[in-house]
Amino acid sequence: MGTTTVRTQVGIVGAGPAGLLLSHLLHLQRIESVVMETRSRAYCEGRVRAGVLEQGTVDLLIQSGVGERLQREGLKHDGIWLSFGGTRHFINMTELTGGKSITVYAQHEVITDLIKARLDAAGQILFGVQDVTIHDFGGDKSENPAPTIRFRQDGELFELRCDFIAGCDGSHGVCRPSIPDGVIKTYEKVYPFAWLGILAEAPPTSDELVYALHERGFALFSMRTPKITRLYLQCCPDENIANWPDERIWKELLLRLSSRNEGTHDAWVPATGAIIQKGITPMRSFVAEPMQFGRLFLAGDSAHIVPPTGAKGLNLAAADVQILAKGLAEFYSSGAKNTLNDYSRTCLRRVWKAQRFSWWMTTMLHRDEDASEFDHRRQLAELDYLIGSRAAMTSLAENYVGLPMD
Ligand code: FAD
Ligand code: DHB
Repeated sequence: MGTTTVRTQVGIVGAGPAGLLLSHLLHLQRIESVVMETRSRAYCEGRVRAGVLEQGTVDLLIQSGVGERLQREGLKHDGIWLSFGGTRHFINMTELTGGKSITVYAQHEVITDLIKARLDAAGQILFGVQDVTIHDFGGDKSENPAPTIRFRQDGELFELRCDFIAGCDGSHGVCRPSIPDGVIKTYEKVYPFAWLGILAEAPPTSDELVYALHERGFALFSMRTPKITRLYLQCCPDENIANWPDERIWKELLLRLSSRNEGTHDAWVPATGAIIQKGITPMRSFVAEPMQFGRLFLAGDSAHIVPPTGAKGLNLAAADVQILAKGLAEFYSSGAKNTLNDYSRTCLRRVWKAQRFSWWMTTMLHRDEDASEFDHRRQLAELDYLIGSRAAMTSLAENYVGLPMD
């Protein structure tokens, strides 16, 4: 059977937030792209993941014309609660950052909006492709063969020739592993815990997110809509979800989140309800350096993973593609490659700061079974210092709402 050859300017592997937003931003600059995705459209639009959008991500989505539903349905938050030692303490991020905030709007809603925007503009997203491989992306000169993506769709073989390939295929994709050995240095830290996350049919009883450190481990109260809450609790990385019937999940969440259990004046408790989704996510920090090889650019989770405690993964993906889109627009309009050549360096400066923040939030708020009692007391002292110091709270707040792009 023959191979059908197609051409585009930018071939994008992966229809997650990075790939779809990149394709959308390129379209606004009149740059053509094709996105290919192994999963179906329904799967991508239903995949429950992140929920916290930094101020900069919200601004980018609104300014680029895909923020209409986000502005209508997103839940804007001015701060977070930190719960420890039986009491909740509010950190007012808007006040500490001169007016910035975060918005809770589910990642799959961002995906739904981006897919709609691309398809309404006759953009090409190929869902359900198979056997994706990338080739000839190492050379940087026009005389080198064009970067090529080969894939199969409905049994037919295709070859997409392009000027650049964007590897937006997440942590288990094909792009990063296709880079020759020795080019990329990786940094990794694996944590001895995971998050068990649920969606529940229960109205949020706190108007702001609650991050809790309890003797029994971390718990997080978040939300999706006025009727749906999103909650997480720390568990073991090798935990089997089958060992967590709904009653056990609620019991553990209520113990860790309700300050009432520790007999203090603050009697807040999350509402319970039917659990409509649950899953376990292991936690690690990972960075690949550089994020570029020849005409292949990595963006989002394909280049870096953060533990979710800082709520940074989706936001880093958006920041990467904002810079990549700017570099590609510059290249196509003037031939200049300054921004493209600086892509990895620019992104990584911010990525490492987000790594530091996510690591800090994670180690401050999780209970490590192998740590000493000294470490636990030190964690509590750190939290106690934090809520008593405007300087420390400001540092948390400015990282949480998102550091500036440059
Ligand atoms: P992905 O979303 O992983 O997208 C990659 C896409 O590529 C996928 O659609 C995949 O199917 C596709 N793909 C893979 N391999 C191939 C291939 N060979 N060919 C074609 N397509 C391929 N981040 C936040 O900012 N805030 C949060 O609050 C937050 N909370 C989280 C909570 C949980 C439980 C989890 C799991 C993650 C959370 N994150 C959060 C992280 C966030 O979800 C990710 O960082 C984000 O999805 C990264 O986007 P991406 O486009 O780089 O990768
Ligand atoms: C959510 C996810 C996070 O990782 C986080 O830190 C806060 C909230 C959420 O899914 O709502």
